[in-house]
Amino acid sequence: MLKDFMTGTTAKLTLDGKTYELPVIKGSQGEMAIDIRNLRAETGYITLDSGYMNTGSCSSSITFLDGEKGVLNYRGYAIEDLANNCSFVEVCYLLIHGSLPTGEQLRRFSTLLNYYALIHEDMVHFFDHFPPGAAPMSILGSMVNSLSTYYPEMADNPLEDLDNMAARLLSKVRTIAAFSYRKNMGSPLVMPRHDLSYCANFLNMMFDSPVNPYVANDDVVAALNKLLILHADHEQNCSTSTVRLVGSARVNLYSSISAGINALWGPLHGGANQAVMDMLEEIHANGGDYRKYVEKAKDRNDPFRLVGFGHRVYKNNDPRATIIGKACDSVLKSLGRENDPLLAIARELEQVALNDSYFIERKLYPNVDFYSGIIYRAIGIPANMFTVMFALGRLPGWIAHWTEMWGDTNWRIGRPRQVYTGPVSREFVPLKDR
Ligand code: CMC
Repeated sequence: MLKDFMTGTTAKLTLDGKTYELPVIKGSQGEMAIDIRNLRAETGYITLDSGYMNTGSCSSSITFLDGEKGVLNYRGYAIEDLANNCSFVEVCYLLIHGSLPTGEQLRRFSTLLNYYALIHEDMVHFFDHFPPGAAPMSILGSMVNSLSTYYPEMADNPLEDLDNMAARLLSKVRTIAAFSYRKNMGSPLVMPRHDLSYCANFLNMMFDSPVNPYVANDDVVAALNKLLILHADHEQNCSTSTVRLVGSARVNLYSSISAGINALWGPLHGGANQAVMDMLEEIHANGGDYRKYVEKAKDRNDPFRLVGFGHRVYKNNDPRATIIGKACDSVLKSLGRENDPLLAIARELEQVALNDSYFIERKLYPNVDFYSGIIYRAIGIPANMFTVMFALGRLPGWIAHWTEMWGDTNWRIGRPRQVYTGPVSREFVPLKDR
């Protein structure tokens, strides 16, 4: 497939007086790349790129983003169109299959989501053996990994039955996520219902109670739907690259995604939404002096960073943050919480940072996590569940990438090189002489 994108031109590299020609590739959106796949074999050199700032690890037809222009497309559709017009389930289908579902395809896929919503009874007992207060994100990673013990058959030919495999995971992760919260709270588990949409069902499993029945507010369901769509994929981010790398060793979908969940947990990645709320609450508790925190973030001798600002690829604006910022206003209004003091601090902080030369020069803008936590908090989701919510949203993206990687005829196990900087040769000293 990549051969269709070869431009026929080459880049020239001169090393030790010899010139090598490296093929140039042009992606479908005009992204230029130098193909170095034969570099080491031909020259003996490798490239060094810590943090993969300039390294394309694969070609992919799932998501396009242009960080300079603030563009994000899934399978060619603008994120704004999808977030404003689709259900999360339609977007899952789109990411995994490559096209939006017809009415019949959507009905069949939704039926499968309903069919797979329960988890094995043995797995329900697993929840009893995590310590009280266990982090839901940690429970989620462990439970998703253990799904591979219940569905080992998928290791043989996983792409044969993509709909079942994807629906099973999307549905069970929703149930596991809600159960991990209930367990964390010491509350009885609420079973999934066949008559609710994907998002309403999740909210019901989270908040319904025999003594206080939960009735989902339409605006809350719509806001959750939007948040999940906005998080659904983001090309080769840390967790997705992890899913692909682990999967490249021919690891099953569940274990590969469990690895992705653990990568997402980091505070510089999906853990940032929880860290944003911690930061806003701290500013509020300390009298609301947000300017002090902006100064701390600018101080090179202070490790503090303004969480929810900056992104490795977005250097103009994060289009997801723009959509979430607007959704945040409307959902808080609908819930009568437009005077949330944390929202006021977030707005002030955003304005100060956007007009400060430190942030302007470094192209640091609010990212997707800056407002998502405020919405989650308003709909009753506690901070330790925020990253679980991110995982729930990112799941279709991980499935799509794992599937694409698995079916790639050019697939090879992921195995970066390194530049060794340790001792060259040391004389061995036996233990008794050390
Ligand atoms: N507050 C203050 N300074 C910052 C921030 C920040 N949030 N982010 C970056 N900088 C500064 C950084 O100190 C550096 O300054 P200098 O050039 O003077 O050394 C410069 O900006 C470039 O930063 P970097 O760390 O080299 O950039 P990166 O691309 O490696 O890191 C990032 C990207 C998202 C990890 C980083 O911006 C950050 O730590 N942000 C806060 C955490 C956060 O909000 N993460 C969520 C990301 S969005 C969700 C997701 O996709 O995972």
